[in-house]
Formats: sequence, structure tokens, C-alpha cells
Amino acid sequence: MKTVLPKFIEVPAAPRNASPVPELNSIHAARRRGPYGSPKYRGNCGGYLIRDLLCYYQPKRVLDPMTGSGTCRDVCRELSIPCVSMDIRFDQDAADPNLYGAVGPIDFAWMHPPYWRQIVYNDDPRCLSAAPTLEAFFARLRLVLRNCQGVLTRRGKIAILIGGYSERGVFQPLPHLTVAAAAKEGLRMAGTEIIRLQYGNTSSRRVYRSTFIPGLHDQCLVFERGSL
Ligand SMILES: C[S@@+](CC[C@H](N)C(=O)[O-])C[C@H]1O[C@@H](n2cnc3c(N)ncnc32)[C@H](O)[C@@H]1O
Repeated sequence: MKTVLPKFIEVPAAPRNASPVPELNSIHAARRRGPYGSPKYRGNCGGYLIRDLLCYYQPKRVLDPMTGSGTCRDVCRELSIPCVSMDIRFDQDAADPNLYGAVGPIDFAWMHPPYWRQIVYNDDPRCLSAAPTLEAFFARLRLVLRNCQGVLTRRGKIAILIGGYSERGVFQPLPHLTVAAAAKEGLRMAGTEIIRLQYGNTSSRRVYRSTFIPGLHDQCLVFERGSL
């Protein structure tokens, strides 16, 4: 029998606690993207999750190593938090340790990498979306994590927004593999994953002839130093 899903799903009540952002929980559903970054930049995310995380962790300096259209930079500007941004499209390879000498100490990194080759950003071989294999993608992601960790203060956090996707019928569970890659870099999850509901994805307007369970979210994983 077909299950009829309600159009509106009630989110479970969250326990009250001393959080400075009580509305931030493991499900993030912002229909609008806010006045941050550019909606025209492919694979771009809205700014509200970043804003909630910054208000929660209250960092003094932020690093955004894969800035794209600058959503994180714009949120930081609004909150008056200094932010260092880089992107391969400006010839800045976040996997290159030499770039980090000038960064200085940061206590929060916002990483929004390509979801491997779901969207190919350019043909620069250093771009994570140009990685020829999944292993090569994670080898480079680990370099970026290592570099970020090198400038991270002792109690600093690294947040990564990433989602799984299917390529020619093979599902790529990128968030799960990211947790494993981060563990190899001496990073553990600082709290629950945050399921970010994706509104207005290009794929939501397409019709496919194949059969699959559509994914409607990506995941934000926040890491801190420490073993599992
Ligand atoms: C998902 S997009 C980020 C979008 C961004 N959140 C925004 O506000 O528009 C991923 C970005 O990672 C960048 N990138 C890929 N490999 C990189 C590398 N090795 N170093 C720096 N940036 C890289 C791409 O150029 C792209 O802009």
C-alpha cells in the first residue's frame, strides 16, 4: 500500500538547554538562502546554517578555504567576524600547506567542498571536483583538513558541509567517508551531524526514467581535535 506523506512534517520537540542558539538542532530547514553569496554559483548553499553555527561557536576568526561565491565570508561580515577566504578559482589551492603561513590562528573553519564530481567546477587538476577517483578526492580533502587543523586553535572546530550522490548507479556516501577521513587526521565529531534540507535543487525540477530514493539533504559535520 502506498504511504501518503503529509506535506508538512512536525519536527520533534528539542530538549531545552543552555545553547546560545536554541533553534539550532540536528535538522536545518531554511527555505531561503539569505543575502549571502550568490545563488547563481553552482552548488552554493544558503547562509543561515553558517550563521547559526557561528552564533553557536562564537569564533573570533574564521577560515573559509573553498569560498566559492563567498557565502561564509558574507555571513562573517554581517557578524563582524574576520574571515580568511580562498578558492582554487583564484589560484589558491587549499591543499597547499604553503598558503597557510599567512592565515594566522583561526578557531572555526567552514569547509564546503565539491561533492566530488557531482558538479565539476573547473579543469584545474588541483580542484577537488577534478579528482579522478574517490581515493584521490579524499586524499586531497585530507590535505585540506590537515592544513586547517594546522592553524586551528586548541578548542577550534572545523565544519564540513557535504552530501552523498549517485553516479552511474553507484551511491557515493561522502559524509560517512568524510568522518572516516577526518578520523585519520585526528579529528572526531564534536556533536551530532546536522541534516540540512536542500530546497530548490536543480534535480528537484527534473524527471528521471530510472528508479531511486531521492536524497533531499546534505550533512554538516563539525569536527574537533581528538580520537574516537
Ligand atoms: C560547493 S562549492 C562552495 C560554494 C560556496 N559555499 C559558496 O558560497 O558559493 C566548492 C568550491 O570549492 C572550490 N575548490 C575545489 N577544490 C579546491 C581547492 N583545492 N582549493 C580551494 N578551493 C577549491 C571550488 O572552486 C568551489 O568554489
